[in-house]
Amino acid sequence: MRHSAPHGEASGPSSQRIDTGFDQPRPMRDRLGDPFVGGGVGKVAGSPVETGLGSAHGKAILLGEHAVVYGAPAIVLPLLDLQATASIRRSRRGYITSDLYTGPLASAPRHMGPVLTALRVSAEQLDVRADRVELILRSTIPFERGLGSSAATSAAVVRAVANLAGERLSAAQTHDLVQEAEHVAHGTSSGLDAHAVQSMTPLRFQQGKPTTVKVADKCTFVIADTGTSGSTAAAVDGVSMLRDVQSRVVDRVVEDLANLTDDVVYSLGLGDPLRVGQSMHEAHSLLAYLGVSSPALDAVVAAALEGGAYGAKLTGSGLGGCVLAVVPDQEQAGDVAAAMTAVGATRTWTTTLTPNDFDLMTAPTARVPKGEF
Ligand code: MEV
Repeated sequence: MRHSAPHGEASGPSSQRIDTGFDQPRPMRDRLGDPFVGGGVGKVAGSPVETGLGSAHGKAILLGEHAVVYGAPAIVLPLLDLQATASIRRSRRGYITSDLYTGPLASAPRHMGPVLTALRVSAEQLDVRADRVELILRSTIPFERGLGSSAATSAAVVRAVANLAGERLSAAQTHDLVQEAEHVAHGTSSGLDAHAVQSMTPLRFQQGKPTTVKVADKCTFVIADTGTSGSTAAAVDGVSMLRDVQSRVVDRVVEDLANLTDDVVYSLGLGDPLRVGQSMHEAHSLLAYLGVSSPALDAVVAAALEGGAYGAKLTGSGLGGCVLAVVPDQEQAGDVAAAMTAVGATRTWTTTLTPNDFDLMTAPTARVPKGEF
């Protein structure tokens, strides 16, 4: 971590500040427009190396999760200090070392499916034998908490394989390979996470198209882990089943979430975190209506508001995982984190968006395509 925890003792030793990439020079390894991740025993990027290295970062959805699956926009924030890294070298045996499984590739359990898919599809494309590599995965992104762990791990693997082969993949090529792994991980996937884990800036994402969001003034967020995990596949399936029986109501909720999302794009462009918070508050109720909140998420959201947040909501697919709260400033972040911890949050992080010059999305209008999904 490049920063010390701003929450002091209030939020405990596990509280960390996350770099969003705006308040300091962008790390070389992850520059926008330079999707290649260099590395590998000191060789020049673009040549085959003995050890291929790749990394990608976590993400937090500010607004629009679930609705994005039905064509609505979503906004996602990069969490640069939460990183997944992969290192890979050719070997006579196929072997994987990771927090979730260590052993032969051929005996890897089902939950390693997305990683193995990322390895297989990138190896196929880059002429590497996927069954003859040793892969080491490390990650500081909590697993199944809605912070992009699976997409970031897949992106790290894809980039490491490309590095090993001495190839450069464009951001779009990397996205497409990660997206294959995401389909294995989640079934239906909007593609949002696969873009988010490669982006250094907040993105508005709709129907496969990412656009950078303008940020006019600092905006500080606190993320709190409820300590419970959520399954993206189960949450997405749950919303889909609800839509099967209540299509008009669910479509209306999707449309409301779309409008809230673009209201937040507008509010960030104005530098109005209070209004961001109001939209987040409404979005949490709508997501709860879709059945993807949980008692733990509701309790942490309520605690954030009592602690002084402008607004709070679940982030990611829900059913567990994390809450995202927007706060007036860094000082208040400590109080909000402490309030969330007091009702059971196991970890908190803060992230601050600092102003940027992007001016693409100051007057958006959300349109949700009808009948395409
Ligand atoms: C998961 O991070 C976000 C969801 O909207 C699913 C998706 O976009 O594919 C729940």
